[in-house]
Amino acid sequence: MLAHKRILLVIGGGIAAYKSLDLIRRLKERGASVRVIMTAAAQHFVTPLAAGALSHTKVFTELFDREAEHDIGHIRLSREADLVIVAPATADLMAKMAHGLADDLASAVLLASDKPVLVAPAMNPLMWANPATARNVAQLAADGVAFVGPNAGAMAERGEDGPGRMAEPLEIVAAAETRLAVAGPLTGRHVLVTSGPTHEPIDPVRYIANRSSGKQGHAIAAAAARAGAQVTLVSGPVNLPDPAGVAVRHVETAREMLAAVEAALPADAAIFAAAVADWRAATEAGEKMKKDGQAIPALPLAENPDILATVARLANRRPRLVIGFAAETENVVAYAQVKRLRKGCDWILANDVSPRSGIDGGVMGGDENLIHLISEKGVEHWPRASKAEVAERLVARVATALGPLETLS
Ligand code: CTP
Repeated sequence: MLAHKRILLVIGGGIAAYKSLDLIRRLKERGASVRVIMTAAAQHFVTPLAAGALSHTKVFTELFDREAEHDIGHIRLSREADLVIVAPATADLMAKMAHGLADDLASAVLLASDKPVLVAPAMNPLMWANPATARNVAQLAADGVAFVGPNAGAMAERGEDGPGRMAEPLEIVAAAETRLAVAGPLTGRHVLVTSGPTHEPIDPVRYIANRSSGKQGHAIAAAAARAGAQVTLVSGPVNLPDPAGVAVRHVETAREMLAAVEAALPADAAIFAAAVADWRAATEAGEKMKKDGQAIPALPLAENPDILATVARLANRRPRLVIGFAAETENVVAYAQVKRLRKGCDWILANDVSPRSGIDGGVMGGDENLIHLISEKGVEHWPRASKAEVAERLVARVATALGPLETLS
């Protein structure tokens, strides 16, 4: 459940900070990526070097660090996370959070964050019992912050006993999993998405490609993940970040894309948004082709496998719902209807990619799409919408189609 999740771990200043080093290891074992912020007080207990060695990334400590701000910036630190864990959360750090103070990197990032936050308090039992701490905890809970611990037990201070021990790393991991479990209409489903163009090499420096940006496919993968699905995104070369909570397989060519898609099966639904190159160079030159006064070379082509048609015709591993896109420049609906039957898929989302579509800057690489959904029931014309809106709408339709009745809508 933590695989591919991005965790931002804020380590506060307490003796329990040593357990946070183990927490980093436990989170990474489960496939999460972990970025670490340490408060000044935390560095009295553990070093950024140790946290960095375990997280395999630079540890952030300073609010006004020119180099770190240049690299990533504290706002991005908070945005590029699926979950923020504060462990150990001291009474002081929780007080700052409850009051919106932001005088160091940890508190500034927490204030700037719109992500779910999980807090593992650790402090002396008297501090925990203090009405001021109790007020802050109540305020944070009302703000939507989740808590794990503190546990009762012996304190580092001799002879002290009571609630205040930080939860154990595995308890924090379990709480993180619960916090991240998105319950949505696609929970328990595996959705496979292809996205982007493919690059078909001609020689080591040249390739055949197309204008696909991958925006639509990536938006669908992200929307399916938000709807609770386990998502595998097989992406050709794109200039987009990997969507959060999605397992991404990066490929170059159509044949690699087909292999990655087949390896990702079984799936409940497969959505083929990639603009796969129809042809590749029949032979790939091992060395760069030279002009050398030679005749202009011919470029014999070979046909690429049709990934959508291959998956739609699988005898036993066919996903229940196989969905293709049809990029057309004329006779959009009629061509797409023929394409649906030819490829054997359930639905086709036909989009008009002609300059006449009226979409500013064109559909390929642009931010909008004009979709006609073609199914066995006929044609549905969707209003012109952003690719993100198209993704949300499609994912909602997929969820309905896969729904408990086990029938296609
Ligand atoms: N597709 C695929 N593998 C291919 C070609 C296309 O999986 N080798 C998928 C695309 O991801 C899309 C659908 O098939 O979902 C239709 O793509 P499109 O390029 O419109 O269709 P083509 O088969 O290339 O048909 P044509 O070029 O004749 O319009």
